[in-house]
Amino acid sequence: MRLTVIGTGYVGAVHAACMAQLGHEVLGVDVDAERIGALAAGRPPFYEPGLSAMLKSAVDGRRLRFTTSLAEAALFADTHFVCVGTPQRADSGASDLRHVEAALDGLAPYLRDSGYERVLVVGKSTVPVGTADRLAERLRALAPAADIAWNPEFLREGRAVRDTLRPERLVAGVRSVHAETRLREIYAPLLADGTRFIVTEPATAELVKLASNSFLATKISFINAMAEICDATGADVRTLAEAMGADSRIGPDFLAPGLGFGGSCLPKDIRAFAARAEELGLGPSVVLLHQVDEINTRQRRRVVDLAERLVGGDLGDHGVAVLGAAFKPHSDDVRDSPALDVADAVRRRGARVRVHDPEAVDNARAAYPELQFALDVAKACEQADVVLHLTEWPQYRELDPAALATVVRTPALVDARNVLDPVAWRAAGWTLCAPGRPRLG
Ligand SMILES: NC(=O)c1ccc[n+]([C@@H]2O[C@H](COP(=O)([O-])OP(=O)(O)OC[C@H]3O[C@@H](n4cnc5c(N)ncnc54)[C@H](O)[C@@H]3O)[C@@H](O)[C@H]2O)c1
Repeated sequence: MRLTVIGTGYVGAVHAACMAQLGHEVLGVDVDAERIGALAAGRPPFYEPGLSAMLKSAVDGRRLRFTTSLAEAALFADTHFVCVGTPQRADSGASDLRHVEAALDGLAPYLRDSGYERVLVVGKSTVPVGTADRLAERLRALAPAADIAWNPEFLREGRAVRDTLRPERLVAGVRSVHAETRLREIYAPLLADGTRFIVTEPATAELVKLASNSFLATKISFINAMAEICDATGADVRTLAEAMGADSRIGPDFLAPGLGFGGSCLPKDIRAFAARAEELGLGPSVVLLHQVDEINTRQRRRVVDLAERLVGGDLGDHGVAVLGAAFKPHSDDVRDSPALDVADAVRRRGARVRVHDPEAVDNARAAYPELQFALDVAKACEQADVVLHLTEWPQYRELDPAALATVVRTPALVDARNVLDPVAWRAAGWTLCAPGRPRLG
């Protein structure tokens, strides 16, 4: 089948490559000509495990092409996935839908003359409940043959290819039998593999995405609130989380105490969800989400406090090594990265900060030009008075604490992700602390 993917960022580029991998003929479309140039040459514009080889094979095999032209997109296929960004508005917590609207308004005039009897626009971007129905009205006025469906995306950066080819569920918010049939045809290889296909109307599909992300964010903030209680009572949050997670009704996932969540999704999604609910007069139903957000933001401050405690007060003029810049491991995405937020807060207190990350240094440097970066861990840690472990890349777990102790000025470590082995680090002479583990040091 032929389809287009409009918006070729973290979601769209992966979706386009994976749809080509499933055997479809795909045209990727973006307003960013530089991005389209890189993708057309088979080069992903960001780091995502497994994407590079799949993209190159699809481009070489001519199953995947790229363009900046929506006119070409309208002629190429009768099904168009919309994967453009929906960032937080500058003036509120609400979702900024201007890219979604621009993509639809740009495509619609060409749909009239595309020659297809029926056209389906499938939104994958995360949008407030009610968006698809509103956009359907808008689209109908411009292109009467076009229908709209919402098929929210649940991929996780760092494992996006796997999540797209082996999703835990597909959710199809449809307004017609034609839309459902079309989506079943597109995802046929996944459905044949047993992927659950949940069909509903667009409002529920839109809500599934925001409710799921809100639940995940709540789980993270819940355990971080427990970390605050542990700090005040001498209890250990890692053991607490392990014991809670062993209960199958609770489960261990997203119960990792530490620096909290960031990235381009969870923070803006909970704010957008709360803003939309308030717009609907349902503020009390989502008051919890404001607390989830507050608890999360507070963890960044708490990690800075732990660093201060380790250097004995003022961070000014101290050397601080930061391990991690990406908002999560296996990604080079630094959007709303807790690690960089902490690194910058420490810099603003007068510390000499050097940041390491296996993949995200270029993006981090562009976002935070005032910070210093190092291409290897030892260089970042040279003469440091305290090391902050802020993104849980697996390679940081494999560091040799004894070797690193010879590089730093003072062997002091904040394990803000609560994953390093305290016994091994202490045995190598390190003083360490971590959120929710007051007895560690
Ligand atoms: N990144 C994730 O992990 C993830 C996961 C699930 C859902 N989502 C949602 O998916 C959507 C996309 O997220 P992303 O991280 O891929 O964003 P992104 O910023 O990486 O990519 C968006 C792309 O859309 C392009 N674009 C903007 N306006 C356009 C237009 N009018 N026409 C064509 N292209 C246009 C941009 O140039 C960019 O390449 C968002 O709604 C996000 O909330 C993201």
